[in-house]
Amino acid sequence: MSAGLRIGQGFDSHGFAAGRELRLGGVLIPGERGLAGHSDGDVLLHAVCDALLGALALGDIGEHFPPGDARWRNADSREFVRHACGLVRQRGWRLANLDATLILDTPRLGPHREAIRQSLAALLDSPLDRISLKAKTPEGLGLPDTAIAQVVVLLEAAAAE
Ligand code: C5P
Ligand code: MG
Repeated sequence: MSAGLRIGQGFDSHGFAAGRELRLGGVLIPGERGLAGHSDGDVLLHAVCDALLGALALGDIGEHFPPGDARWRNADSREFVRHACGLVRQRGWRLANLDATLILDTPRLGPHREAIRQSLAALLDSPLDRISLKAKTPEGLGLPDTAIAQVVVLLEAAAAE
């Protein structure tokens, strides 16, 4: 069994697009423009997935779920995270904590923060107090139609209490 700790970071960005539903962290946010993408465009879950894969040094989301593959068209991104979580468990690790930042103009995160944290905690099978979600506006970046997610995860050996 592996000993110690592993850290991973993930980044993703998607453009806002008409005719799409907005999903952030597996939560449907009604009444907002959605994000473009081959899958459901859940920028936060894509960054979570890459952070987990990064901690395991097992490549990135595109290697596990090629964007050109018709199977993943409009896919529920929770499936990508479940796959990454399966690899975490298989290799003897568990999540110590996750810290995420969403960078987007709208929606304001406040009314949705707790629902998204709970969704992430359920997906990652983690206590809520190990899941952090923050938001920033893309001030000065010149990216008003873009949503960005940055995620850091720490994994600990599963047997370490
Ligand atoms: O990016 P800025 O410094 O203007 O963000 C100030 C605060 O606004 C953030 O710390 C966060 O609490 C909130 N915010 C938010 N939802 C966003 C952007 C910012 O809740 N989409
Ligand atoms: Mg993506």
